[in-house]
Amino acid sequence: MIYVTRRGEFSASHYYHNPALSAEENQRLFGKCNNPHGHGHNYTVEVTVGGEVDGRTGMVMDEKELKRVLEEAVLQSFDHKFLNMEVPVFRTLIPTTENIAVEVWKRLGPRLATGRLQRVRVYETPELYVDYFGE
Ligand code: NI
Repeated sequence: MIYVTRRGEFSASHYYHNPALSAEENQRLFGKCNNPHGHGHNYTVEVTVGGEVDGRTGMVMDEKELKRVLEEAVLQSFDHKFLNMEVPVFRTLIPTTENIAVEVWKRLGPRLATGRLQRVRVYETPELYVDYFGE
């Protein structure tokens, strides 16, 4: 198996809030990230596909296709958005880096050949990233 990774970036804002908890508990859990006016991050997403090299093309998959899918399914709908308000899934799901990684997987998996997607990595800062392997 050979792995190919494509990287993309988006800037977005968010805040952390669990409506099932009291205001005090939200504040204790999330601190300044609980401010409902939000704050921004420059996120980096890395999407890894795996497979065998196609003898006809010499590639695992068409790199332009991977770029197009990442842009259309993820970057265009997340970039310059207030995630909690403007990306429907995050109206009810806290837009943590973990949940963003899972959402990226859900959007990309069905648009790639079965078994292709191997890993989604999301950096919230250069120092912090989350890996999701589909389960
Ligand atoms: Ni944040």
